[in-house]
Amino acid sequence: MSRILIRGGQVVSGREVRHADVLIADGKIVDIGPPSTVAVDEVVDATGLHVLPGIVDPHVHFRQPGLEHKDDFAHATRACAKGGVTSFLEMPNTKPATISVEALHQKLDIASRHCLVNYGFYIGATLHNLDQLKLARRTPGIKVFIGSSTGDMLVDRQETLEAIFAETTLPIAAHCEDETLVRANAARLAQRTDVAVHSEIRDHEAAIVSTRRAIDLAKRHRHRFHVLHVSTAAEIAEIRQHDQLITAEVCPHHLFFTVDDYPRLGSLVQMNPSVKTSADAAGLWQGLLDGDLHLVATDHAPHTLEEKGQPYPASPSGLPSIENSLALMLNQVALGRCRLEQVVRWMCEAPAAVWNMCDKGYLQPGADADVVLVDLQTQRTIRNQEQQTKCGWSPWDGVTLQGWPVMTMVGGRWVFRQLDAATPPWFATEPVGQEIQFDPSAPGYWAKFSQS
Ligand code: DOR
Ligand code: ZN
Repeated sequence: MSRILIRGGQVVSGREVRHADVLIADGKIVDIGPPSTVAVDEVVDATGLHVLPGIVDPHVHFRQPGLEHKDDFAHATRACAKGGVTSFLEMPNTKPATISVEALHQKLDIASRHCLVNYGFYIGATLHNLDQLKLARRTPGIKVFIGSSTGDMLVDRQETLEAIFAETTLPIAAHCEDETLVRANAARLAQRTDVAVHSEIRDHEAAIVSTRRAIDLAKRHRHRFHVLHVSTAAEIAEIRQHDQLITAEVCPHHLFFTVDDYPRLGSLVQMNPSVKTSADAAGLWQGLLDGDLHLVATDHAPHTLEEKGQPYPASPSGLPSIENSLALMLNQVALGRCRLEQVVRWMCEAPAAVWNMCDKGYLQPGADADVVLVDLQTQRTIRNQEQQTKCGWSPWDGVTLQGWPVMTMVGGRWVFRQLDAATPPWFATEPVGQEIQFDPSAPGYWAKFSQS
């Protein structure tokens, strides 16, 4: 494989931004340092650009197999490449659901033939598959829907949850919304058909009670646990109180949308957990800045506009976001709400550490050459017709952001390039993505970051 030099850029880690060249050979980072004079096959002039580790998105729904009318690996991983995302972890609520070792291996096999970026897949818990959860390897962990959502994967029975936390060893990640409270709210509000009721049915209490319950399980069983898509400011106190078994993520839609967006966007901002108030969004942002929320993940959950157009409650929950998540965060840097190093911490280093990914999340010698070049000055407007995700829309349609990925590399090979918005994007056609390797003996999030 060829030797590539990325010359003259500003290299960004979670700690610093420094002027350095990046030398890549055989799919790996070989050197980062002062201007290099070694002979290479390709020199990329990164003057004026910032060089980041590729984004690691540990929470996506790519719908393959079985729901390919919403999205598929080819479209969704082009969306990744365009968004600077070089690795993803995908959820098990496909058809068939990824609830057995066999289904997991089948999904890995399909992915190997279609993915432009690196891939990994959770195995999903059901009421009856404890044996599979114990056997599974080649997976970051176990996904538990403690609250029901798209798909039919609810695990709400205490006895089953106790057994999963007691008898498995893989990290557990959970969707936390209390099913009993949600059902009671839905019955009480059954006469309402406006989509805003979604946030009253899936309310604050439902999220807080369920997160508390899951954390209690993790603590009692001393099990590594990750809280998916935290949506309320109050949950942060639950997460903060507990020790280093727990990590938590926040999604762009909970940071940037609130219940005030229902009149404008309707079911396009209907998702589970629901959007909450502007005070929650502000609290979540503060939680991220304070280090109480550890990473940003998208929960990219595409549905077609036709599906979304059905009257509530037939409209499905979820929205696509993977191709704009990095730009949304870079725009926050432009607005002065956070620093570029923090974005790298939240979107590269932390997810790689939480899930014990081998050679991901960092630009350092020996790491995989997953790289994104970003232009912090360029302004672009998100347009539905330019979205690569198969569902072909974004809730941020028409929004202009400053700071965009312009080139993305996966394992030493370029997969995306768009230096200016007037030129159509270029994508690689080979499925160069690799299966992500997980090392259960890696130090993990807390060992890496608790001192810093
Ligand atoms: O809004 C959501 N959509 N939340 C989930 O938990 C699942 C997701 C989906 O798969 O559509
Ligand atoms: Zn999800």
